[in-house]
Amino acid sequence: MTSRISPSLLVGFAARLIAWQRGHGRHGLPWQVADPYAVWVSEIMLQQTQVETVIPYYARFLARFPDLASLAAAPEDDVLALWSGLGYYARARNLHAAARQVMAGHGGVFPSDFEAICALPGIGRSTAAAIAAFAFGERRAILDGNVKRVFCRLFGVDGWPGERAVEQRLWRLAGALLPEDGIRAYTQGLMDLGATLCRRGRPDCRRCPFADDCVANRDGRQAELPAARPRKGLPEKATIMLVLWHGGEILLEKRPATGIWGGLWSLPECPADADPGEAARRLGYAAEPLTALPGLTHTFSHFRLHIRPHALAVPVRPAAVAEAGRLWLSPAEARAAALPTPVRRIIEAL
Ligand code: ADE
Repeated sequence: MTSRISPSLLVGFAARLIAWQRGHGRHGLPWQVADPYAVWVSEIMLQQTQVETVIPYYARFLARFPDLASLAAAPEDDVLALWSGLGYYARARNLHAAARQVMAGHGGVFPSDFEAICALPGIGRSTAAAIAAFAFGERRAILDGNVKRVFCRLFGVDGWPGERAVEQRLWRLAGALLPEDGIRAYTQGLMDLGATLCRRGRPDCRRCPFADDCVANRDGRQAELPAARPRKGLPEKATIMLVLWHGGEILLEKRPATGIWGGLWSLPECPADADPGEAARRLGYAAEPLTALPGLTHTFSHFRLHIRPHALAVPVRPAAVAEAGRLWLSPAEARAAALPTPVRRIIEAL
């Protein structure tokens, strides 16, 4: 699967990484604090999102929910509203559920025990290790996407890292490389190296402290490592979103708790080949079609969604229509709700 790894690199790696992190890594990030709650929130936000994007969301989140008890006490909708635009909303729902579990099962104190951290919703092995290292100084190996890329290039690990055998090999490497001391700087250094130099596109090998040892740099294989997932193109789906207008307000519907955009407020949808007027009638409203609005495409990790919004006028709101899970809001009010990103775009363009 890979070329043999040089023993001197294995032995010296951690000390060299720590020295590089102290001089060239990122310092003063807002979550580089002693509070396990703050570390946890940041690690969840950073799971699929870059540092620059996370910073303002993190600041708003901690201002609104300064501690675990305030997060646990909040309605889920408030948590989702602060997450709106970050994507991967299961992260927010899990964060909220985990806060409630910590209140109920750990006396409101974020657990320091590694297995207890792993048992919380939304926390996998690598995130738990990052929290254990940053918040509690525990010697644990992380292996997120950035770290996989660093290791695959540096040590010339072939194969797609999502494949079980490749991932297990990377975990073994991650464990073998850990330093005896300095776990915080080491863990941050791995993240910093992956995010700032060993980037996916256009890695900055000239500034890399490991350039002379790196298999990918030596063989000019930076673009090939880590190997991509063997796959076909993303599946395509299409939908119509209904923008129902009544008295200057539009109709939003709460999505089911699970699945795509779970728990967020969205526009009603109908199949791409359905008649929007008929779809509105099924919701209980006799609506006049107005115009088709500009279409947009949203790419999820596992499919691409083509959205055609249709505006319709609802002259009367019949009293008999059950409106649980529905809200009529002005576009300005709607923008403050927990909206999926493409729905926000549609509403902002109204
Ligand atoms: N990515 C994941 N965790 C991070 C952290 N604590 N700092 C910077 N980038 C990260």
